[in-house]
Amino acid sequence: REAGCLSIIVLGASGDLAKKKTFPALFHLFQQGFLQENDVHIFGYARTKLSDDDLRERIRGYLGKVVSTENVEILSKFLQLIKYVSGSYDSEEGFQLLDMQVSEHETSKNSQPGTSRRLFYLALPPSVYPSVCTMIRRHCMNQSDLGGWTRIVVEKPFGKDLESAEDLSAQLGELFDEKQLYRIDHYLGKELVQNLLVLRFANRFFMPLWNRDNIDNIQIVFREDFGTEGRGGYFDEYGIIRDIIQNHLLQVLCLVAMEKPVSLKPEHIRDEKVKVLQSVLPIKPEEVVLGQYEGYKNDPTVSDSSNTPTFATAVLRIHNERWEGVPFILKAGKALNSRKAEIRVQFKDVPGDIFKSKKQGRNEFVIRLQPSEAMYMKLTVKKPGLQMSTIQSELDLSYGLRYQDVKIPEAYERLILDTIRGDQQHFVRRDELRVAWEIFTPLLHSIDEGQLKPISYKPGSRGPAEADELLAKAGYVQTHGYIWIPPTLA
Ligand code: BG6
Repeated sequence: REAGCLSIIVLGASGDLAKKKTFPALFHLFQQGFLQENDVHIFGYARTKLSDDDLRERIRGYLGKVVSTENVEILSKFLQLIKYVSGSYDSEEGFQLLDMQVSEHETSKNSQPGTSRRLFYLALPPSVYPSVCTMIRRHCMNQSDLGGWTRIVVEKPFGKDLESAEDLSAQLGELFDEKQLYRIDHYLGKELVQNLLVLRFANRFFMPLWNRDNIDNIQIVFREDFGTEGRGGYFDEYGIIRDIIQNHLLQVLCLVAMEKPVSLKPEHIRDEKVKVLQSVLPIKPEEVVLGQYEGYKNDPTVSDSSNTPTFATAVLRIHNERWEGVPFILKAGKALNSRKAEIRVQFKDVPGDIFKSKKQGRNEFVIRLQPSEAMYMKLTVKKPGLQMSTIQSELDLSYGLRYQDVKIPEAYERLILDTIRGDQQHFVRRDELRVAWEIFTPLLHSIDEGQLKPISYKPGSRGPAEADELLAKAGYVQTHGYIWIPPTLA
């Protein structure tokens, strides 16, 4: 463990993201002993005029509801670590004041003299990133000769298309080195996403099968059973492709499709992710279905003539030796019939089938990212009993059953800890971001210009029927009469 004073500065401290994600993640790290009282201080910064206690009460108001009674005391201790500084996002004085407060804490703590570690978490809209980063650079950098660092955590959206993203990257790149910048994609902090490389490269089972010879198609699916409640203004400007697909689902695709990295060094892993993204062919408009749920435009913050998709299915094709001809179907939607995220790998039919089991269904390997984390292999077995007939069944690894004593950490918790440790493996590198935008920008522009239009669908449905037709056309064969039910503890 690195010694020295650690200051975590949450900018946008009075906002929603800070309240719901950043502070709770910090609390959980504190509770587990990763943030030590004698060398950590947490600062909130925002425009609103608040006292230290006002901010603490706000956080208590939110966290208090989820913290169990035996942890109330720990919560109080945690809140005592928090200080608040108010100022605007482009004011020299505000950031000078912030720097003074941080420096004061660094010298007053009885940690190793002089070292300073400063983590700036930008829980802010990206429009203020350039000014905030300029201010940090001018006034708030770690000054110590004795060691330490300054790191900046930023949240998506990183731009709206290739050009604006490159612009933002260039502006931040002027101020900070790539190794100081941590672009969060919280899907990379999810347990089963982090498991993907282990699964693929530490198991003999998968190695020979993971290619075009055996796999027919791969789906990466995100569904939510609620709409854009309360976030209509933000969402209408971005839409489901920028909100979910270009980042979260594409990151998952990288880990599913990339080649084996030279080692587990973050740069080796990120090199491979970039390579596979570079092999993605331009998306064909006829392999895209867009949807918008009925009632979306009733939200007063959404424009009456909005063309923004709240649902999209897009087929991506990877032009390389491993994946030529295998469609990667990315699908995401709001206001659908369920909430889940999963990767579904569907294998080809068995050649020379003697059981006529083809009609029943194909082998599938499913990784359920949430809820109820699990992996299961759907396979054909003999139906138990006297007759020789076959049924669909599964080999199931459900985390809730198998790891009953483990509490799976929240994505943000893990990613903040990685930032403190200086591990960039689960963060998006600048060149990776660039290719990700290259893939989606032509499609996004044709939606923005109204050339592609979303089909209306009923809230609480599967989305437009056209999406299922596209899926079938891409080669996916749905298994009828079989559903996997997450096992529960008896
Ligand atoms: C965010 C999106 O990045 O991810 C939201 O902006 C979405 O629209 C959320 O609801 C989903 O995250 P999770 O972890 O609940 O799947």
